Amino acid sequence: MIDYTNPNLIIETAKIEPGKIAWRSPSNIALIKYWGKHGRQLPSNPSISFTLDHAFTETTLEYAPKTGVDQGIDLQFFFHKEEQPAFKAKIQKFLESIHDIFPFLRQLHLTIRSGNSFPHSAGIASSASSMSALALCLCSLEHELFGTLESDQDFHNKASYIARLGSGSACRSIYSHLAVWGKTSIAPNSSDEYAVEYSDVNDIYKSFQDSILIVSAKEKSVSSRAGHALMENNVFAKPRFEQARMRLNRLSESLKSGDLEAFGTIVEDEALTLHALMMASTPSYLLMEPNSLNIINEVRAFRKETNLPLYFTLDAGPNIHLLYPGYIRDKVLKFQEEVLLPYCEDNMWIDDHVGIGPIELDSDSEVAQ
Ligand code: DP6
Repeated sequence: MIDYTNPNLIIETAKIEPGKIAWRSPSNIALIKYWGKHGRQLPSNPSISFTLDHAFTETTLEYAPKTGVDQGIDLQFFFHKEEQPAFKAKIQKFLESIHDIFPFLRQLHLTIRSGNSFPHSAGIASSASSMSALALCLCSLEHELFGTLESDQDFHNKASYIARLGSGSACRSIYSHLAVWGKTSIAPNSSDEYAVEYSDVNDIYKSFQDSILIVSAKEKSVSSRAGHALMENNVFAKPRFEQARMRLNRLSESLKSGDLEAFGTIVEDEALTLHALMMASTPSYLLMEPNSLNIINEVRAFRKETNLPLYFTLDAGPNIHLLYPGYIRDKVLKFQEEVLLPYCEDNMWIDDHVGIGPIELDSDSEVAQ
């Protein structure tokens, strides 16, 4: 196990100059799903995802010498320019939980401002983008104050590790195109503790589009956290974790060869398995909506009729991600407009695609509004 605990990361108080760090970090969509965890946010099976581009969080971290005598984390937090006590409490608790990794945080007055590119009401998960953006800010701050994390690899591994502690799937958002989290033979440098970039892929996947169809923007009735916990007593848990490993191995072959049909079959099976696991939990629950099923049926009918490589996946919610290579974009957008958007809430969708990963922003930039 990696031990990032470091009591030496303490600043000589006289030397603290105020400063500011800013990162933009995208969301990601899992192809093989992380569903079930143990210990301190360790996954029960390896997962792989496409890093997205347009669905992102921008976060700035301002720091200055602390004036009060309080021994804890001294934090102000703004989300889309407003103070959000519930979000603030979550971030404060998270920062307290990693004080042994970043002991200098308790020496500073911190102001965190965060904003998403997508409407908060869109009901799409923001923990991957927001926790990865925060983790990147924290690692940049460590580097700025102590000159540590010099190599890209050290920086990315630690940022991914910290993001994981905030929200498991967030650890995959640190990398461009595709990322693997969890020990697996398809990536020799993989780890349960952080994600790594996965580059043994045909170029066709780098052009992949993701139309996120918003079937419902309502808050989920069962959170991912609660869903993971329900896997502990799910009778299918053991074979499921085994199945995920086998599917990942098979998926890696189609990623390498560019076999889109094999890719699509595995990805759709994974999405339906995720929701089947929810239905088979005790208590059972459903996050799909009738219109999620309508869209799935329409996508399958479209594929049969046109032979075009259009596939779907879902996160832990009712919304549908349409995955397809860039060269069929015009045809998919026409089909989407005519047939699928009527199934969406207010015809809402997000036009996204596979992206290059997080970017550090100028420290004077304003975060997304
Ligand atoms: C269905 O990463 O949101 O999106 O670790 O409790 O924060 P926590 O859970 P989270 O779970 C995501 C589950 C998923 C599948 C995936 O992204 O792999």
